[in-house]
Amino acid sequence: MARKRVMSGMRVTGTLHIGHWLGVLSNWVRLQEEHDCFFALADWHMLTTGAADTSKIRENTRGMLLDWLAVGVDPEKATVYVQSAVPEIAELALLLGMITPVPWLQRNPTVKEQIQDLHLDEERVGYGLLGYPVLQAADILVMLGQSVPVGRDQLPHLELSRDIARRFNALYAPLFPEPEGLLTETPLVVGLDGRKMSKSYGNDIRLGASAEDIASKVMAAITDPARQRRHDPGHPEVCTIYALWHLFKSPGVERVAYDCRLGTLGCVDDKRQLASSIEELIAPIRERREKFARDPERLDAILANGNARARKAAMATMEQVRSAMRLNDFSAASPALPA
Ligand code: TRP
Repeated sequence: MARKRVMSGMRVTGTLHIGHWLGVLSNWVRLQEEHDCFFALADWHMLTTGAADTSKIRENTRGMLLDWLAVGVDPEKATVYVQSAVPEIAELALLLGMITPVPWLQRNPTVKEQIQDLHLDEERVGYGLLGYPVLQAADILVMLGQSVPVGRDQLPHLELSRDIARRFNALYAPLFPEPEGLLTETPLVVGLDGRKMSKSYGNDIRLGASAEDIASKVMAAITDPARQRRHDPGHPEVCTIYALWHLFKSPGVERVAYDCRLGTLGCVDDKRQLASSIEELIAPIRERREKFARDPERLDAILANGNARARKAAMATMEQVRSAMRLNDFSAASPALPA
């Protein structure tokens, strides 16, 4: 199989949860074995809703890098970099903004959802947030990304990236591939309350969670509401705990469903077992995370190296973009920079 150019990224928010891992990162880890992968820590995207408080941005960028490394993203195989360390992305976003009609952006359901989730006042939606998908298109296109492994909620953004790429190619020169989204088998992970797992709902289990955190979160989860007493027959298909069991595809899943339906497995025991399965899964991740966290110099080196590689690729693309748009005709006439 030819090596594909894979590009993806995550907004630098807080730490990640098992939904990010099972839904997206597991795909990255698999893809890095066979493809040419670029993974961006998207700090500018964080600013689209969080520009008023940037006090945590560095800490969160490093925290997210730790999570990636802990689940097995390998900077020897993939290029891992910070978005803001590659200014060519901003240049491309600006240029793509010139060919992106505003109604394309206003229709975007992901941005609409974000406005709702964060209870943003429509009046206060910034130019940056409206342009979120243009910046994302720039992320992808500057790396000539063909495949974009993301969660299902990102598919509308990718459609826009394709529309923008197509328009650029038609207007100037066929430079950009039309990037395709790539989902995992479990693109949407349920949280402990049955809604999608999300930090903003507080229904998540973080990748760095301690055994106690995991247990207390799982024990508080909602199960089958029809099950009042210990021996009532349960309905796994409506139970959040069962949905989580299912995610792990552990061989015990069928047994859990069977015993629950019979009423021989009570919810409390079921939860205890699930908590210990999750703990088994997370313990090695937590340990790797802690190991990397103790070595800040190594993290700096990983980013310095990744940033340089990403920048090199982005600069090569931008040479072509400027020339396709005839923007660099005057560069030879530019005066030398003052010393
Ligand atoms: N919007 C993505 C998210 O919220 C993050 C992201 C930024 C991204 N740039 C990207 C995803 C480029 C894929 C490709 O998760």
